[in-house]
Amino acid sequence: MGFNISLGTNLFFLPFLGPVCSQTTSSLIYASENPIPVGSNVTFFSSKSVTQGAWLFNNSLIVIIIPGNSIIPSIWSSRVTFDSNTSSLSIRSLTLSDSGLYTLEAINLFSAQLTLSVQVPISNVTLMAKATNLVEFNDTAVFTCLSNGSVPSYVWLNGSSQVTAGGNVYLSNGNTTLTIVNVTRYDEGPFTCNVSNGVSYEVSPSVLLNISYGPSNTMIDIKPTSLNHAYRTGSNITLNCSAESSPPATIMWMINNVYLNQSGPQLQLLDVAPNNSGNYTCLFYNSVTLRFSSASEIVWIVDPLAAIVVNQIGGPAILNKSFTLNCNVSGTVDSIQWWRNGLLMSSNSTTILSKNTLILNPVQLSDSGNYTCQAINAVSMVTSSPYTVQVNYGPEMATIMGPNAATTGDNINLTCYASSYPSSIYTWYFNGSVVANTPLYVTPPLTTNMTGIYTCVAYNNITGLNSTANQMLTVVGKTGMVILMSLLITQISAFFLGRITDVEVIPLDMSAIEGFPYNLKCSVTGPVDRVYWLLNNQSLLADNSTGFVMNKTIFFTPLERNDTGSYQCMAMNAAENVTSPPYMLVVNFGPETPITEGPELAETGKPAIFNCSALSVPPSEISWWFNDTLITNTSMFMINELSLNMTGNYTCMAYNTVTGINSTNTVMLTVIATIKTHTVPLSSSNFTLICEVTGFDYTIQWLKDNQTLNTTTSANNTHYYIEDNKLHFTPVTISDDGMYQCVASNTLTQVQSPPYNLLVNYGPLNVTIAGPDSAALGSIVSLTCSAVSMPNCEFQWYFAGYSVAMKMGPVTTFSVHNNSEGNYTCQARNPVTNITLYKTKVFTVTGDLYRIFFACHFVKCDDLTVQI
Ligand SMILES: *[C@@H]1O[C@H](CO)[C@@H](O)[C@H](O)[C@H]1NC(C)=O
Ligand SMILES: *[C@@H]1O[C@H](CO)[C@@H](O)[C@H](O)[C@H]1NC(C)=O
Ligand SMILES: *[C@@H]1O[C@H](CO)[C@@H](O)[C@H](O)[C@H]1NC(C)=O
Ligand SMILES: *[C@@H]1O[C@H](CO)[C@@H](O)[C@H](O)[C@H]1NC(C)=O
Ligand SMILES: *[C@@H]1O[C@H](CO)[C@@H](O)[C@H](O)[C@H]1NC(C)=O
Ligand SMILES: *[C@@H]1O[C@H](CO)[C@@H](O)[C@H](O)[C@H]1NC(C)=O
Ligand SMILES: *[C@@H]1O[C@H](CO)[C@@H](O)[C@H](O)[C@H]1NC(C)=O
Ligand SMILES: *[C@@H]1O[C@H](CO)[C@@H](O)[C@H](O)[C@H]1NC(C)=O
Ligand SMILES: *[C@@H]1O[C@H](CO)[C@@H](O)[C@H](O)[C@H]1NC(C)=O
Ligand SMILES: *[C@@H]1O[C@H](CO)[C@@H](O)[C@H](O)[C@H]1NC(C)=O
Ligand SMILES: *[C@@H]1O[C@H](CO)[C@@H](O)[C@H](O)[C@H]1NC(C)=O
Repeated sequence: MGFNISLGTNLFFLPFLGPVCSQTTSSLIYASENPIPVGSNVTFFSSKSVTQGAWLFNNSLIVIIIPGNSIIPSIWSSRVTFDSNTSSLSIRSLTLSDSGLYTLEAINLFSAQLTLSVQVPISNVTLMAKATNLVEFNDTAVFTCLSNGSVPSYVWLNGSSQVTAGGNVYLSNGNTTLTIVNVTRYDEGPFTCNVSNGVSYEVSPSVLLNISYGPSNTMIDIKPTSLNHAYRTGSNITLNCSAESSPPATIMWMINNVYLNQSGPQLQLLDVAPNNSGNYTCLFYNSVTLRFSSASEIVWIVDPLAAIVVNQIGGPAILNKSFTLNCNVSGTVDSIQWWRNGLLMSSNSTTILSKNTLILNPVQLSDSGNYTCQAINAVSMVTSSPYTVQVNYGPEMATIMGPNAATTGDNINLTCYASSYPSSIYTWYFNGSVVANTPLYVTPPLTTNMTGIYTCVAYNNITGLNSTANQMLTVVGKTGMVILMSLLITQISAFFLGRITDVEVIPLDMSAIEGFPYNLKCSVTGPVDRVYWLLNNQSLLADNSTGFVMNKTIFFTPLERNDTGSYQCMAMNAAENVTSPPYMLVVNFGPETPITEGPELAETGKPAIFNCSALSVPPSEISWWFNDTLITNTSMFMINELSLNMTGNYTCMAYNTVTGINSTNTVMLTVIATIKTHTVPLSSSNFTLICEVTGFDYTIQWLKDNQTLNTTTSANNTHYYIEDNKLHFTPVTISDDGMYQCVASNTLTQVQSPPYNLLVNYGPLNVTIAGPDSAALGSIVSLTCSAVSMPNCEFQWYFAGYSVAMKMGPVTTFSVHNNSEGNYTCQARNPVTNITLYKTKVFTVTGDLYRIFFACHFVKCDDLTVQI
């Protein structure tokens, strides 16, 4: 084709190419690379082939496309290649001025456009900081990032995180300058700038800032650690001070604001003494930031307490007087505690704890006991050895036991007693002279001039108190006259003295409960010299362990259960003695912890009996509770048939309505149930037996035919394993048949489940038919089908090709006729394994023709064909 068109920059036939009927679109053309570095080659591709049209750059022609040919103006021809098959355009050695709009015009079809960006790659990126040695909070960091290349954009990084404008961070000069006002210690960098354009990127070398900061977060750490920083004299202590500071701070130590000749972070105090106590300060100074900071800790050095001893101040402990104990301890004491018989004491109206002393005022009998004092300071605690205090009292009112009258020649015993601690010293006087220095005065053989008043003086040399009792003794001759005289004297005495009446023991307290104080009083009307007490007909005089007898009253401090008994008091004067009716004192106590009986492990379906008793006066009310629900108000109860949900805590509660005390004891019952399974044991399937147990701490064991199942046998020759309360067979086989039991045991007892009889289901394995293969006409034939199977198979008989069973059951019986010949099939089906097997027997009819003929007279031989 001989077109020869001179082409200028302005295309004269543009109207001819004008986009009259075409659409402008960009998705039809694309560049091999865009943006693209200077100097490289680009190819524009069109997704549609163009036979008539042109490629243009910023409205100037690059290629004119005409069918079968193309024309490239000379200004492009050296750098441009057009592929008319694909309509693609390649331009080589791109320059920056090749950036612009490229158009592919397909006449009357479309016009597609694309903007190409030719770029100089980024190079020579440099990063500079205005200053790198900066002070935290004071200084500003300024970075400048420089580079070569077209359309650069800048990303700033501190380490791996991007730095963006905001807060004290500013970006300026087209993002080439980064300013951080008032830098902090976290602004150390490394800082980099990443410069990029569409065709390349370059990261600047990194710049580190040296930021001086601190001292901050100052601290003193003291080793060893100790509560309140208190240490024993003689300890070695190390104080370590630390601060965050760059460069490291210099350190000076002070105690109580006085400089120590000590620098460096560590201060060692060896073999400390109390005068090393003080307020320790370390002072930090950063010579670059010019800042100071400090940390302080108070350290206490305390002597451990040593000897501690309780002693008494003033006189001994005397009933109703004041008594003082002193706790003697050397050293600095923070607090003192007093203990009596192991119980911590506190101040109240009669007990005063003050500094080192314990004052009991007034002293009571119950103040007897062992006292210890305990002293505590920051580094030690010491306890004294016990100091035994025995309260001294008495003598209480002295009493004399002995006759009022005696005959000459007798030796009589006069016994004097007065309650007292320590025991009194007794002195007997008669007619102004001392006759005995013992509580018991045995008279010499009596003479009549021994009639008179006998005086006993009981003296307690600790309390300094004494008590006097007098007894009138009349000695008469051994005649009836004497007896009369003696009676007369008694009468006369009674006449003058009046009668003793209404002697009665009266309780002074409502209820007699163990552990509480209790008093019995002897109530008397009339003139009484003395009162004696009897317990179960025995004199209470000499034995004051029961109660503390004080004339007309017995004080129980407190009441004990063995104080129960029959009490009497005997009131006496010179003329007579009268004994009260007995008073029965019953001490109420308890209940003690109940004694319970009941099973800990039991089997479902079996009965269980629970019984409970508790030592108690009066007898306690007993109740049984199951998991906090009341079951019964009786001491014994029975469960007729246990079930699994009866596992639990059975608690017996004993309640004494008088003492108001209740006490409980609990039986934990574990119920074990029968063995269960959820599946049918099919031979060579997996099968599991479950031992149902509910309850507490127990272990499970399995028995097969009364032998323990060995679970430790190696895995390859066992096909079962035990998991919790399950026995898994993997799989179960006929050899597993047997009687299984599970045994649950705890530390005390064990319970065995009822047996589970395992019969593994299998088969049918081998079906056989018994019976004749042939028989003569008219005879009766039975065929019996059997199969090896568990459980037994269900049998059905089929004849010939019939699909309906002729007989159910293992045996089929028929009388032979001409039609009886054929296949007899037995179907054996195991209803559990659901396996069905068949067995067929071929049966033929035999016999002589006569018999056949004969037989046909009796049976209907319709289709019988007999050939003679
Ligand atoms: C551009 O194409 C020319 C010719 O095909 C080739 O010699 C040159 O190496 C190519 N330039 C680049 C940067 O690929
Ligand atoms: C890189 O930049 C530095 C400073 O701007 C300049 O001195 C140097 O000539 C540049 N080098 C190149 C290869 O552009
Ligand atoms: C920098 O610190 C100075 C002095 O502490 C303060 O006045 C100023 O507001 C701070 N500037 C910024 C941006 O935090
Ligand atoms: C500077 O960077 C920010 C994002 O970091 C950007 O939004 C902004 O356009 C950039 N300014 C210039 C002049 O490139
Ligand atoms: C304290 O240190 C000294 C020497 O360093 C040592 O002899 C002494 O046993 C230490 N005392 C204690 C209580 O550890
Ligand atoms: C310890 O000394 C420092 C420094 O003089 C002082 O600031 C601090 O209040 C003192 N601490 C006590 C508990 O007195
Ligand atoms: C930091 O700034 C404060 C107040 O602006 C000034 O007093 C101090 O001298 C400055 N510190 C340094 C190390 O320049
Ligand atoms: C006072 O306290 C002591 C023990 O701390 C105790 O034995 C005594 O019964 C108390 N007395 C009174 C009146 O509470
Ligand atoms: C007091 O201590 C003595 C001897 O240590 C001991 O025999 C006595 O039983 C103690 N008394 C009490 C009430 O603990
Ligand atoms: C008097 O006491 C003595 C010594 O305890 C005793 O042996 C004697 O039996 C007593 N006599 C009477 C009459 O109780
Ligand atoms: C009683 O009388 C006898 C002589 O009759 C005399 O020896 C004795 O001392 C008298 N006893 C008293 C206690 O007076």
